[in-house]
Amino acid sequence: MDKKLYLMENEDEIKRLELKTESRAIEEQARWAGLKPGMHVADIGCGTGKTTFILHSLSQPGGKATGFDISEERLNFAKEKYNIEGIEFKTFNIIEPFPEEYKFDFIWIRFILEYYRKEAFDIVKNISNAIKPGGILCLIDLDYNCLNHYGLSKRLENTLFKAIKLLEEKANFDPYVGRKLYSFLYDLGYTDIEVEVRAHHLIYGEIKEKDEFNWFKKIEVIFTGNIPNDKLINYYINSDIFVIPSLEETFGIPLVEALALGVPIVASDGSKYKEFFIPFNEIGRDLVIYFDPYSEVDLAEKMIYALKNKNEIRKMLKDKIDEIKNTYSIKNIARQLIHEFNNIKI
Ligand SMILES: C[S@@+](CC[C@H](N)C(=O)[O-])C[C@H]1O[C@@H](n2cnc3c(N)ncnc32)[C@H](O)[C@@H]1O
Repeated sequence: MDKKLYLMENEDEIKRLELKTESRAIEEQARWAGLKPGMHVADIGCGTGKTTFILHSLSQPGGKATGFDISEERLNFAKEKYNIEGIEFKTFNIIEPFPEEYKFDFIWIRFILEYYRKEAFDIVKNISNAIKPGGILCLIDLDYNCLNHYGLSKRLENTLFKAIKLLEEKANFDPYVGRKLYSFLYDLGYTDIEVEVRAHHLIYGEIKEKDEFNWFKKIEVIFTGNIPNDKLINYYINSDIFVIPSLEETFGIPLVEALALGVPIVASDGSKYKEFFIPFNEIGRDLVIYFDPYSEVDLAEKMIYALKNKNEIRKMLKDKIDEIKNTYSIKNIARQLIHEFNNIKI
C-alpha cells in the first residue's frame, strides 16, 4: 500500500505531530483506559514516537512499549529521539494482518482510524487478535471532526461541510469515526466496554502557535505574494497541477504559460456563464479540465481528478506543447496584431 494514501502525509508531518501531541492528554486518557505499570504496550500508528514514549513511561516499572507505523521517515525519527531501553519501533501497515508473534497487554490506537473509513472495523478486528487474555484495547478518535466551529459565516460553514464530505467520499476520511468506536468493540464481542467523550480541539480566545500550525497543515494554503518574473517558471514546473478559478479575465496569460510548460490545468468553464468574460475555453480547448466556477465541489472534484491523473495528462500535453508555443509566440501574436491594425479603416 502506498503510504501517500495517509491523508496528512507531507514534509512537515513530523513537526506537526511533535507539536500537537500533548503529554497531559495522553497520560489522562491512558490512565483512564487502565494502563498500569508492568504492561507491554502497543502504540499503533505511533507517528514520531512521542506517544509511545509517554505510554512507556506510564508502564514503568517493568513495562515495555512497541510503536508501529507505516512511515519509515517517522520511525527513523522515533528511533533517534525516543531511543531508550524498553521501547522499540517497527514498520507495520495496519491494512495487513498483524504479525502473529506479537501479543500485548494494552493496545492503543489513536487518530488513525479516521483515515480509513472503509477499513476501520477490519483494522480493529485484526489488531484485536494481538491482545493477551484480560488485556485492554483502547480506541481513541475524533468525532464531527473539523465540523464543529462556533461563529462561522454561513458560507464558510457550508464550504467546510462540503470539503469534509468530499474527503469522506473521495479520500476514505471518516469525520464521524468517534461515534462508531463503541459499536466496533460491541460487534467484536467485547462485553466490558467503557466510553468517554471529551473535547479535543477546544480552541477559544487567542489561538496558540501550535494550534495554528496544526490547523494550517489541515487546510494548507500558502500565500506567496508577488513572484518575480524570473522565478515564476520554477513555480509552474514544480506544480502538480495549475488551477485558474477566475470569474473574469481579459486574456489568461498564466493559462498559456502553464500549458506551454505542460502542467495539468483546471480552469473555470467560461462557456457556463456568458455574462462574464472567461476566455479559457478558447485558449485551452480540450487540453484543460474545466469546472463550474460557482461550484466549490466541482472545483474540488476536478482538482482531485487532475491530481490522480496528472502523469497521463502531462503525457497528453507533451505532444501539444510546440503547437501551443507556436500559436502564442510573441512573433505570431505580433504578426496578428499588425494584421488587425492594417485592417482598421479610418
Ligand atoms: C495522526 S498520526 C497519529 C499519531 C499518534 N497515534 C497520535 O495519537 O498522535 C497517524 C499516524 O498513523 C500512521 N499511519 C497512517 N496509515 C497507516 C497505515 N496504513 N499503517 C500504519 N500506520 C499508518 C501515519 O504514518 C501517522 O504517523
